[in-house]
This record gives sequence, structure tokens and C-alpha cells, in this order.
Amino acid sequence: MAEILITRSVFQDAVDILNKKGHTIDINDSDEILPRRELVKRAHGKAGIVCLLNDKIDSALMDELPSLKVISNIAVGYDNIDITAATQRGIMVTNTPGVLTETTADLAFALLLCAARKIVEADEYTRAGKFKNWQLMQPHMGVDVYEKTLGIVGMGAIGQAMAKRAKKGFDMRVIYYGSSRKETAEKEYGAQFVEFDELLAISDFISIHVPLTEKTRYMFSTEAFKKMKNSAILINTARGPVVDEAALVEAVKDGQIRGAALDVFEEEPSVHPELIKIKENVVLAPHIGSASIETRLRMAKMAARNMAEGLKGNRPPNLVNEKVTSRKETDI
Ligand code: DGY
Repeated sequence: MAEILITRSVFQDAVDILNKKGHTIDINDSDEILPRRELVKRAHGKAGIVCLLNDKIDSALMDELPSLKVISNIAVGYDNIDITAATQRGIMVTNTPGVLTETTADLAFALLLCAARKIVEADEYTRAGKFKNWQLMQPHMGVDVYEKTLGIVGMGAIGQAMAKRAKKGFDMRVIYYGSSRKETAEKEYGAQFVEFDELLAISDFISIHVPLTEKTRYMFSTEAFKKMKNSAILINTARGPVVDEAALVEAVKDGQIRGAALDVFEEEPSVHPELIKIKENVVLAPHIGSASIETRLRMAKMAARNMAEGLKGNRPPNLVNEKVTSRKETDI
């Protein structure tokens, strides 16, 4: 049986999965990220770390933890972990795909609607007692969503769930750009593959669903914003650094694009101070894409199962670094 560190408070059901396997668990039962030194101290001698997307697990950290065998990230994205370094050291890395797809697409679409129809601004206005009478020239006139063009950048599972909502719920035209063609999305939702520049030029809404890699970092910068429609709204529920936040601020301020709805930020949890000041057509959320009770519970349990399988020496169901060969229990 092995020792495991869980870096933040999680659902008891997830802890129970690991307890039942007889593992010894150390939990940082708080909402604070463990400072580096503390993380090393508590993970030292342990075979597994169950971590969150804001725990940075890099090669230097791995070097300090020679007994580490499995890193189980409670997230689908794993840009917080140096995968190459883990693979070189024979450490398995797992994530939680699938279980958060629909929930994240729900949030992305909710943000799109909020920004298009000025729902947050209207809420503030109503609470402030400013709603005096119905007017034709209402202060919160937004833009229509139905039958508009949605550009999806990254047609993975979440991108496809977004396409489904757009097509089936709002009769939108769906176009997409990504690393490969997606037959299902093309057949089921009439999604049309276009080059990135074309997507920028013709989309009324652009929703980002790519992982953060060196290729996607700053994919949306001044150059991209210049190619977008002045009426376009950008939605990001993927990873903050895909968007150059300073450039976005300028693009919105200059009217280069209409607005943005963001759930993720370049330097989370910080948000560009100028972005916070822009209330018109800009909606901000604190990385809640997968934050429904059901989904967060599913994610935590999946991460626990991934860890349990990895520690048994089996190939965990959601292994990210395929090249790491499974080992025998005695290796752990
Ligand atoms: C993930 O899983 O990568 C999300 O960003 C968390 O909801």
C-alpha cells in the first residue's frame, strides 16, 4: 500500500476510494495552494500526488520526489504538469476527461448569452433600482444569438458540445478550426472546417476550446483581434494564456471587437486590472466551467480511481503519458 498526498480539500467520496484500497492519505484540507517548500515536504516519500490545475508540478519538483509514481490531476487540462519530465522519470500522469464536457459547454454558452444580452449589466441595473419603466430604447440592448455564426477554436469534446448547443438550440451556423477535421461535428451539427483567419473574419462569436500548449499560447493577440469583426464577442473557458489579456483590453476599448466573456485568465487568479474596469459587454467568471456539484464530484472520484489503478501497477483509465509503461505493485 502506498502513501498519497492530496493537495487540496476534495469530496470525501474520493478520499474513501483511496482509503478502501488501504492507502495512507495526507490531505491539505484547506483551499490554499501549498507553497512550493511545503508541497515538497508533504509529498516527500509519497508514491502519489492528487493535485489541482493550479499546483505546478515541474521537473525540479519531480527531482525532489524520487518516490513519486503517479500524478493524478483533477482536471482535464494538464498544462500545470511537465509531461515530458514525468515520462522521462517513469511517472504516470492522469487527468479527468469526459465527465466535465457538458458542464463546461453549458458555462461557455451561458457566458456567450450573458455577454450578448448584457445580462450581468442588466442585473446590476435592476438591483440598483434603476428600472423605472419599459422603454423601446432600453439601455441594455444586446445583440441576437440565434442564427448567428459561432466560430469554435478547438473541436475536441467540449468544442463539439458547444457546437451541439449552438446548432440544435440556437440554429446557429457553426464553423471551426482545429488540429483535425471532426466528422461527427460536421455531420451532426453542420460544422464547417475553416482556416483560422477565415474563422476570425466571419464569426459573430468565437469560443475557445484548445488546450494550452506552446502553439496555442497567445493565439489571440493584437493581430487576431484586428482580423475579427467589430461586432464579435470572444468567449474563453479553456486556458487564460491562449489570449493576450492586455491586447484584449485594447481591442475591446478601441472597439476592435464588441466584447468578451472569460472564465479563465492569463495569470490566474489575477485578472488584468483594466479588464475589471470594463463592464460593458465584458463578463468575467472565476474559472467555474466545470463547477457543478455533480461534475466536480465525478472529477474527484475519477482522479481517485486513476490514482488507485496507477498505484496497483495497472494502466490507469485516463493516462496522459502513454509512453510510461505500467509497473508491478512491488515497484511502487
Ligand atoms: C479543467 O478540467 O481543465 C478545467 O479547466 C477545470 O474545470
